Amino acid sequence: MATTDAPQPEATAQPESAASASSVRPLTVGILGAGRVGTAVGRQAVRAGHTVKIATGRPAEDIKLLTEVIVPGAEAVNKEDLQGADLIITAVPLHKYRSIDTSVLQGHIVVDTMNYWAPVDGLMEEFEGDRSTSEVIAEFFGDVKLVKTLNHIGYGDLEVDSHPPGDPNRRALAVASDHDDAKALVMQFIDSLGYDPVDAGPLSAGRAFENGTEIFNGRHTAEQMRQLLQEHPVKETASSR
Ligand SMILES: NC(=O)c1ccc[n+]([C@@H]2O[C@H](COP(=O)([O-])OP(=O)(O)OC[C@H]3O[C@@H](n4cnc5c(N)ncnc54)[C@H](OP(=O)(O)O)[C@@H]3O)[C@@H](O)[C@H]2O)c1
Repeated sequence: MATTDAPQPEATAQPESAASASSVRPLTVGILGAGRVGTAVGRQAVRAGHTVKIATGRPAEDIKLLTEVIVPGAEAVNKEDLQGADLIITAVPLHKYRSIDTSVLQGHIVVDTMNYWAPVDGLMEEFEGDRSTSEVIAEFFGDVKLVKTLNHIGYGDLEVDSHPPGDPNRRALAVASDHDDAKALVMQFIDSLGYDPVDAGPLSAGRAFENGTEIFNGRHTAEQMRQLLQEHPVKETASSR
């Protein structure tokens, strides 16, 4: 991702313990998508002490070796086996969202990491309007508590930008949701990965950190993130009422 002129925390390689310095209780984390983002989040989550299960649309056997090699400590599972996880992270290319088996997600806290970028995803009318992409996704997923975060950090940065709590260079990640309980749990999870979670407000506020925004394009401390979120006007929409 590109950098901005804003002062940014320094990106430095961190010791293995950076993602485990938090006191967050160990969670069972399901990840749907075993590509760049799914595996990077999985590695950080394993480091933080969480139980990690990874699935795609294919049988578990198809990603078993990849999981063993790239996300040691995580378990490759069938998508149905993600059910019961404390949270399920969706890391699938947005243009494939309609192929996601939403029955697996029902009743769960679901983290949406997906971004819309027309040159890659193709023109998708539903994402061309004023709404956050995650508001569209929340409607499609149905009975889930959707939380938007982790979309505005490059998969390759997740490991190296991780810092223990209190480190002045700790990077912030914004978290938006219409469900306060789900947002609180996901904020704890973000903290455990080595980042300062910043409450961005309702899901509609997720527009402030989508593709093309200053937040999306840079690294920010919590203070900088709060300032940027304040500067971004958030219109009330159906999903934020
Ligand atoms: N790249 C980044 O740095 C970055 C950062 C933040 C957010 N994001 C967003 O994260 C999302 C994933 O990006 P990525 O770069 O990780 O993609 P990717 O490397 O192409 O991986 C996508 C994964 O999703 C799986 N998948 C596809 N359709 C599926 C379905 N219907 N059900 C379950 N799994 C399915 C794929 O499995 P198969 O191989 O079986 O198809 C693959 O494992 C995108 O929306 C992107 O915008 C990317």
